[in-house]
Amino acid sequence: MKGLVLSGGYGTRLRPLTYSQQKQLIPVANKPVLFYAIQDMIDAGIKEIYVIVGPNKEQVMETVRGAKWDAKIDFIYQDEPRGLAHTIRIAKEKLKGDSFAMYLGDNILRGGIVKAVREFEKSKCEASVMLCPVPNPHEFGIATLNRKGEIVKVVEKPKLPPTNLAVIGIYLFRPAIFKAVEEIKPSWRNQLEITDAIQWLIDKGYKVKSAKVDGWWKDTGKPDDILHANRLVLDEIEAPVSGVMGGSISGRVKIEEGAHVDESSTIRGPAVIGKGAKVSCSYIGPYTSIGNGCEITNTEISDSVVMDGAKLENAGKIVESLIGKGAKVSANNAHPHGHKMILGDNSEVKL
Ligand code: TTP
Repeated sequence: MKGLVLSGGYGTRLRPLTYSQQKQLIPVANKPVLFYAIQDMIDAGIKEIYVIVGPNKEQVMETVRGAKWDAKIDFIYQDEPRGLAHTIRIAKEKLKGDSFAMYLGDNILRGGIVKAVREFEKSKCEASVMLCPVPNPHEFGIATLNRKGEIVKVVEKPKLPPTNLAVIGIYLFRPAIFKAVEEIKPSWRNQLEITDAIQWLIDKGYKVKSAKVDGWWKDTGKPDDILHANRLVLDEIEAPVSGVMGGSISGRVKIEEGAHVDESSTIRGPAVIGKGAKVSCSYIGPYTSIGNGCEITNTEISDSVVMDGAKLENAGKIVESLIGKGAKVSANNAHPHGHKMILGDNSEVKL
């Protein structure tokens, strides 16, 4: 089986972060979201993986190439986000008629895909679609199953959802899908929809099985989703201390190489402090990821993601925040007093 990981798209719901950074590279517990998908594929025994890249393609390629993987990884350029099914069209040559797993690069799945892949390989089904019960089914593609657990219908964002089983971003396919993506037509939003391709398989009499998610699943499409995913991953993080820890610590705290926490700081886990980060006279509260090379001085922060190279100095109390790479937050001690800001387009600040 081969792998197809999607790392294209504009990520408009995550602006301004996605003006300068591809959304799948946003870190969760100090690791790009995309890396979780790639690792899940490798853990399932997949040795040949293609990553779809679009906007910011150099950034994605450089980041993926900069890490060590126990698989061959190559890239396929998508000129415009023309839909999930479109990525299968343009990957056809590379996937060469094999079966493959497709994984949206902004999804994180706790239980991985090993079980789903094994069950699919044993079955004779043409596809397997991972499903997860959700409280808000009108916002998802929703599946209806027969008694054997096969999918008989998928509908996009139904007003009256027939079930609460959402089609998440992980699919396993045999080669009939290549025909499906050629046959379907673009939707009202001018995209080739994966749900239409799956429905095409069902309508042509192919068997499509379902695989339920064990544990949790998270789509990191919006700012609150990133914070939620960060909490979920930190809850289970291993916590070696490789850096220097001078202050007081409680709970699970990972301190990466070269990081330095001074004796007047307190860290309450779960939390991670990235490589070379410096924390002085500060409080880092639960569910916080501090990126590589950050400097946190005389600041209290919790339940947040601070990306590489950001600086927080005398910044007061910060909660539930996403702070981009190299961003600076500090106290304004000069006259006139007041909040002084240089914010990119579509930034959001709550004072
Ligand atoms: P979406 O979250 O639907 O789209 P998006 O990433 O552009 O985000 P937004 O709606 O905020 O603008 O895409 C799901 C995943 O699939 C995501 O990882 C991006 C990827 N994708 C592609 O690689 N190519 C595509 O043509 C589309 C539509 C998505």
